[in-house]
Amino acid sequence: MELLVIPGDGIGAEVTHEACRVAEWFIAKGMDLTLVHRPFGLEVWNAEGRLVSDETMELVRKAPAILFGAIGGEEYHDIPLEIVREQGLLKIRRDLDLFANLRPVRYWEPLASVCPLTESTAMESDLLIVRELSGGLYYGEPRGISEGADGKRVGVNTMSYDEDRIRRIIKAAVNLAQQRSGQLMSVDKSNVLEVSQLWRSVAQEEARKHADVTLRHMLVDNCALQLVRNPRQFDTIVTENLFGDILSDCAGAISGSLGMLPSASLNIGEDGEPRQGLYEPVHGSAPDIAGQGIANPIGSILSLALALRYSFGLPLVATMIEEAVNAALLGGARTSDIDFGQGRLVSTSAMGDAILDALERLSQNYTMKTLFQ
Ligand code: NAI
Ligand code: MG
Repeated sequence: MELLVIPGDGIGAEVTHEACRVAEWFIAKGMDLTLVHRPFGLEVWNAEGRLVSDETMELVRKAPAILFGAIGGEEYHDIPLEIVREQGLLKIRRDLDLFANLRPVRYWEPLASVCPLTESTAMESDLLIVRELSGGLYYGEPRGISEGADGKRVGVNTMSYDEDRIRRIIKAAVNLAQQRSGQLMSVDKSNVLEVSQLWRSVAQEEARKHADVTLRHMLVDNCALQLVRNPRQFDTIVTENLFGDILSDCAGAISGSLGMLPSASLNIGEDGEPRQGLYEPVHGSAPDIAGQGIANPIGSILSLALALRYSFGLPLVATMIEEAVNAALLGGARTSDIDFGQGRLVSTSAMGDAILDALERLSQNYTMKTLFQ
């Protein structure tokens, strides 16, 4: 098994390094995984005048799973926009047709004081937002700014989904819900939008085929409120691109910090198995703290866990990583974004150390070999 590692810019490199240490710990224990490291972004731009080499793009196109850091920074202002568009992350997402964006969000009990929601509201929340990533308002045509007949400028975007695109994301979400509690909430705006009415009926058609999945529907504005009022009512949420973009950031509050959030973007086959996956923390390159060794690596480490769960079929290893993160937090390790004076302020690499120590301790409760089967 091969994991393509692309750390990218800013803190992307710093946090990905810690995720690789976690992967290497499991490799040393017998997990069959090879890490292939490739540069991307400013480092390549400064050396070669492009953001990514053809060789790396070739690897990207073939890789079953990619662990990505971040792209971005001040220096990008000097890079022509066409190049960023043609060679950036969006291009990778499009080329690989990564249509399902998974954003798991959970409450971390040791971070109760960091979470903006009250403990009684957020406690035990654990949900998965499945956002359609390839269609909707972000891609629909016509789009643009033009001059109307009266000489006033008009901005236009189009929210459009054909039923195949709806069906494939609903199928993926049904499958993911089956791996969890079977509760699936489809979020739309069907009281106003025809796109949503189609969405709703396709969702019903698909869910009907699966007796072990309970499908419910919620309007997106209500969902935004419910996510902060009573997040425990949700397990798996599926929604279109724009709604998912906004709702997943909103739900992120449950985890306390941007630095805690992982993501997976998948191309899922008819059989429900991911063909390719791009795994990355939700945060960007954080130029304000890059190079200081203080970024929180947990988003990246949890992204590695998602890669092991969804691309490499190792759910027990993923769970062990999540347990180790919780144990490190319980032990008091806090990077600056999650430090509210109750723990021990640590660097990026010391957080990595705390998680590796926790893995060592946890490994006494596991028969490591069975984890890798
Ligand atoms: P950002 O996520 O990089 O940072 C937002 C704020 O959160 C900053 O104050 C940062 O210091 C803090 N932060 C983020 N991750 C953290 C971590 N792991 N530990 C501690 N603190 C953390 O978003 P921003 O500032 O809007 O964008 C910075 C650059 O990143 C831009 O060039 C943007 O385009 C790019 N970006 C790239 C993404 C990607 O590669 N997928 C996603 C989001 C932004
Ligand atoms: Mg966003």
